[in-house]
Amino acid sequence: MSLSWLLWSVISILIPFLVYKRYSDQLSKFEGPFWARYSSRWLERVSKEGNPEAVFDALHNSLGTKVIRIAPNELHISDVELYKTIYGQRSPFMKSSKFYDAFLAFGTTFGEMDPHKNRERRNLLNPFFSKAGTLKLEPVILHRLSLVLEKMERLAAEGPINVQDALRCYTADIVSQISFGKSLELTNENPSSFKSSYFAGFDAALKAPTKLFFSPLLRFAYSVLPFGVLTYIDYSLSKYSEIIKFSGLCFLEYKEGKHKADHPILFDNLSSIPESERMTEAMSILIAGSETTAFTLAQTIFLILSSPRVKERLVQQLDAGVPESSHMPSIQDLEKLDYLMACVKEGLRHAVSVPGRLPRVVPNGVELVVEGKRIPPGTIVGMSAYTMHRSEEIWGPDALEFVPERWLKEDSKSLEHYLVAFSKGARQCTGINLAYAEIVAALAHTFRKFELTLKTQTVLTIDRFVQMIMGEGICVDLERRKN
Ligand code: HEM
Repeated sequence: MSLSWLLWSVISILIPFLVYKRYSDQLSKFEGPFWARYSSRWLERVSKEGNPEAVFDALHNSLGTKVIRIAPNELHISDVELYKTIYGQRSPFMKSSKFYDAFLAFGTTFGEMDPHKNRERRNLLNPFFSKAGTLKLEPVILHRLSLVLEKMERLAAEGPINVQDALRCYTADIVSQISFGKSLELTNENPSSFKSSYFAGFDAALKAPTKLFFSPLLRFAYSVLPFGVLTYIDYSLSKYSEIIKFSGLCFLEYKEGKHKADHPILFDNLSSIPESERMTEAMSILIAGSETTAFTLAQTIFLILSSPRVKERLVQQLDAGVPESSHMPSIQDLEKLDYLMACVKEGLRHAVSVPGRLPRVVPNGVELVVEGKRIPPGTIVGMSAYTMHRSEEIWGPDALEFVPERWLKEDSKSLEHYLVAFSKGARQCTGINLAYAEIVAALAHTFRKFELTLKTQTVLTIDRFVQMIMGEGICVDLERRKN
């Protein structure tokens, strides 16, 4: 076979294909990288590089449009006024199964596409995670926090503390305790550091969806092969299987009535669903609720310490509001400290643990129009907290700066519509109250009790749906403050 024959054969197939795609293509009016019209390879490359939202943002800017095509059937939207349309309480836009199936979270609140089934499951979880429900979990939060802070103080004598690791222990110990009735006890695992053997399992769970999303074959293998076999294909999964084993044991103890928790636990709320679903729901909550909160908290501490002005004002308010550090007020009372809460909200805005697009499908009968162009039903559209939280239109010219004061102005309540760290509407995060309680308690106790000095200059992060901190993490020197 000659080379020219081969070349002609390729051209005679490729050209009609491109012409057909060009004229049958309902999204051809939307700009984007050339190859994004034909395949998901471009999206795969930028996703795997680790900061896709920055790439989309640059494209919106360079093309001068609020809607760009990022895959054959997917658009990325940066028109901030459309967030409510797509993610509002009554929005008919459903989660895109093409995207969410890669999490293999079938039958869980997070992984359920059907809005009615999701609503039913959320109704079971809501009393547990409501404001009143979270109040009942306060002793668990404060006990876990005290263990972490005691250990931080002890280890500080030997050198800098990795707060990211410490906070991963804090949040995972809380969520495992309230989900399974028994804590993973990561804080106590390693006497000389906050490193835990379970971290690799959490990392594997966070990294898997990006891999699976772009590999239908791997996704198929994951959904049909027994877990034990999969650990041979992907070693990191064997670490994840340790967490599954732990939760299985806890569930067994729970069923046999052996657990001794003196606080509500999630399994109680799930008694009306099949056993296997109770387990997967609790596992999925552990993954959804641990790394997210730890990331936001660690990054917020970094941001506060990077701004001496913010740190000073926060410590001043804590000193005035909490006369004795040995008598810390309840979390509800701490929530009355306005500058502390401004730091929490500004932290959620800057240190977004779920920064990326949340893909939804345009429903039949819905007119979605951006810049005068109609987006046809069936198209996958997504907006992101990254775009929303960096918009100068919303936050003003200092949008990229860490300025808690923006939350203390008269009209700042209206800004909360645009704070979308937990998303909005019917599919917003179920753990919002718990996350707030954990963040408020940890920031207040840490800055009231300790003098912290930052040892890390820059923090490298990677977006795997949930952001992960790379490299050495965030390290601080720490000393007990007087009183
Ligand atoms: C700072 C901490 C947190 C952030 C920023 C966060 C963010 C989010 C976001 C953006 C979503 C929507 C995802 C989507 O539509 O694809 C979500 C969903 C969810 N989150 Fe969180 N989350 C946090 C903490 C928690 C905690 C502590 C829990 C529970 C212990 C939790 C449980 C869930 C669940 C179950 C869902 C699925 C809700 C549904 O689809 O109906 N999250 N979270």
